[in-house]
Amino acid sequence: MESVQAIKQRFGIIGNNQKLNRAIEKAIQVAPTDISVLVTGESGVGKESIPKIIHQLSHRKHGKYIAVNCGAIPEGTIDSELFGHEKGAFTGATQTRSGYFEVADGGTIFLDEVGELPLTTQVRLLRVLENGEFLKVGSSQVQKTNVRIVAATNVNMFEAIKKEKFREDLYYRLSTVEIHLPPLRDRSEDIHLLFRKFASDFALKYKMPTIKLTDEATLELLKFRWSGNIRQLRNVAEQISVLEENRTITGQTIRGYLPNATSNLPAVISNTKSESDFSSEREILYKVLFDMKADLSDLKKLTAELMKHGNDKDVQKNNEGLIQKIYGNESDAEYDDTEDDLEILSIPEPSSTSLVDTSNMSALDKYHFAEEIQEEETLSLQDKELELIKKSLERHQGKRKLAAAELGISERTLYRKIKQYDL
Ligand SMILES: Nc1ncnc2c1ncn2[C@@H]1O[C@H](COP(=O)(O)OP(=O)(O)O)[C@@H](O)[C@H]1O
Ligand SMILES: [Mg+2]
Repeated sequence: MESVQAIKQRFGIIGNNQKLNRAIEKAIQVAPTDISVLVTGESGVGKESIPKIIHQLSHRKHGKYIAVNCGAIPEGTIDSELFGHEKGAFTGATQTRSGYFEVADGGTIFLDEVGELPLTTQVRLLRVLENGEFLKVGSSQVQKTNVRIVAATNVNMFEAIKKEKFREDLYYRLSTVEIHLPPLRDRSEDIHLLFRKFASDFALKYKMPTIKLTDEATLELLKFRWSGNIRQLRNVAEQISVLEENRTITGQTIRGYLPNATSNLPAVISNTKSESDFSSEREILYKVLFDMKADLSDLKKLTAELMKHGNDKDVQKNNEGLIQKIYGNESDAEYDDTEDDLEILSIPEPSSTSLVDTSNMSALDKYHFAEEIQEEETLSLQDKELELIKKSLERHQGKRKLAAAELGISERTLYRKIKQYDL
């Protein structure tokens, strides 16, 4: 059996905290079995490494490993994502499609944020866990699959059960073994270690000297509550590494990077869900922003066409795809499989404004300033988009199909983005 130390090295896990070691040890112990594991812990504590360790140390390691972020998939499409659908199951289902449970046969599925699963999906999941059976959406033919499930959650499952948001029977089925990762504030011996590791990583990445902390600065890190845990510590290390010219970091400098450092509430009071969840909420907000931007750019294209040609039949015909995309089709609202036309995450590229010939359109000229402002905004949004894409690809080990599904864009769009960002 590989030692905890060797596993840490192999999976890039930093820290010597006893609870962390115990969690890794548990993962090593359960890996060779097919026992379902529930990984618990606040957002940003490093839950995603556990299912990877379990998969890699199991007899399934040559099978597929699929990580699904249950909180990021819209309720209307999640059954189809997980279990697939039959051609004609709903408007837009133009062909039969396999879900993750079919694709991952013989492998492992990591259900991240499992507490977010809709109740109807929970019923399907329970069935798979109980006897390996599932139905594609729109099909009555029972299919079999052999998948190991590791789930993770940062919500209090007992609370969710009490509020009837999560099935109790499913909870017990998922959590045969529970692996809990401690919050960073309870691992104070690891804080400095992690910070130094991140600082040296970012120094390398940005080709700058490594930042160094004064004793007072280190103390500030130890005192802070880290509600976003290691993810938050990493972000702070990155910001300081990039922004601070003076590479010796004082306590005062650090305080400037710690939100509400002065009103750092005691653990009990500030331990609310909204706080521990902030990073995923931020991601969702960015996604909504991207969607809105895409809609806006579509609307602009359409408006420009209308201004140029008026609302005649040809305009409607030539822009059928666009009109459909913007206004949809009532019956299509739930799910649209005609991915080719969809670019939900799309942000107009700098050159895309030239798609519209503005030479004799005085009305549009007026918007030149607005256009420029938008370009700047687009830049920072593009950074965020890049981050989202990178993360999703990472989560799915470079598998574009899965990343595209998670991001809600077509594979073709993702491919274009990968080229655009030179990923
Ligand atoms: N022990 C650790 N050592 C190094 N990096 C870590 C460690 N734990 C977490 N991280 C990093 O922190 C970030 C958040 O981890 P993640 O597994 O996504 O958290 P969670 O899924 O619990 O929200 C990731 O960038 C991850 O690489
Ligand atoms: Mg996570």
